[in-house]
This record gives sequence, C-alpha cells and structure tokens, in this order.
Amino acid sequence: MRISASILAADFCNLRAELAKVKGADLVHFDVMDGQFVPNISFGLPVIEAVSRCTELPLDVHLMIKHPENYLEQFAAVRPEIITVHYEAAVHLQRTLARIRELGCKAGVSLNPHTPLDGLRYVLDDLDLILVMTVNPGFGGQRFIPAMLEKIRDCRELIGARPIELQVDGGVRVENIRELAEAGANNFVAGSAIFQAEDPAAYIEALRRAVR
Ligand code: DX5
Ligand code: ZN
Repeated sequence: MRISASILAADFCNLRAELAKVKGADLVHFDVMDGQFVPNISFGLPVIEAVSRCTELPLDVHLMIKHPENYLEQFAAVRPEIITVHYEAAVHLQRTLARIRELGCKAGVSLNPHTPLDGLRYVLDDLDLILVMTVNPGFGGQRFIPAMLEKIRDCRELIGARPIELQVDGGVRVENIRELAEAGANNFVAGSAIFQAEDPAAYIEALRRAVR
C-alpha cells in the first residue's frame, strides 16, 4: 500500500514545516484545479515546483483541469512520479496517457464518482494508475461516498493481474481505510484527515496500521 498526503489541506503559509510532518508518507499529492473542470481554483506549477525543492518524497500530480494535454510538458518538467488526468477531461485519452509515459512519468487516469469504468478496458496497457474518486472532485474535507466501494471492487477486477495501482481520493480516514483496502484499493490519498490531525506523522502510521 502507499499513502499520498494531499497538501490541499496543508497550511500554505508554512509549507516547508507541513511537508516535514508528512515525511512518513509515500507520496505528496497535488490537487491542481482550474475553476473550469471543477468549481474551485487551487494552485499550479509554481507551487509544485517550490514544494519539489523541499521534499524527498515522489510527487503525485492530480490534474483536475480541462485540456490536460496542453500542460503535460510543463508538469513533467518538475519530474513527478505520477501525472493523473481526468477521464472526463481527456478527449484523446490514449494519446494523453502515452504522452505522459513518453515524458518519463507514470500515467494515471481519474474517474468522477458517476463515471463508468467501461472505457478504461481499452487503455489498460497505457495505464500505471487508476484513481477512483471517492468524492466529487473540487474540495477537500468532503465525506466519502459509500457507493464507491462497489466501484473499487469492479475496478480491481478490471485490473486483474496488471501492475496498475488503484488509488482512492476523498474522505479517506482511519475509520474507512480498511474497507477501501479490502475492496481493492492500494494507494490512498488523504488530505484533511492527515493535516488536521494533532500529529500528522502518527496519523499516517495509524492509516497503515488500520490496513494491516
Ligand atoms: C478533492 C481532491 C483530494 C482532496 C482530498 O478534489 O482531489 O485530493 O485533497 O481531501 P480530503 O482527504 O480532505 O478528502
Ligand atoms: Zn486529488
């Protein structure tokens, strides 16, 4: 399993200190929002670039933007491990995923809660990660949507023996991470639960323990 700490919930005035608290995570997750694909604007490349200079952790970039294909080179330049685009925003998804890999990153695709998994069947060989959104994207601190457990199980079945990570994002906490893992998720994004914890490092450990 891997835990990706979402800095959307961090104190942006103190990012260096906030990153130090989540050293025990496996990845740092960046929620890039454009106010078009989602009804909110977050941060963009300058922030990711700055953060990349004060963490040793690999970067996990979640693009909640329209026309992600137009920005791949710029995001790849900060050398993230993963670039994830939204299924709903990528008109030529196969080409976009192939391009992410050409740029030296792992290719991820994210699906909104209501988006069916069906179309992914034909691009499985172009994928390194599937992100099943467990909330409607756009905001941190929302409640996990229970119906997504069935979708995670279906997604695990679709992946079969392929080396594709199954990531979940939204409302992940100590209380539900075990059922998410049992349904088939193996990569967990958590924002508010980690950063609002009194001791974020201990909370990350508690997330791991809950799955064991
Ligand atoms: C939601 C974002 C998430 C968000 C998760 O649009 O994609 O990554 O940071 O936040 P929490 O863990 O607070 O639900
Ligand atoms: Zn995210």
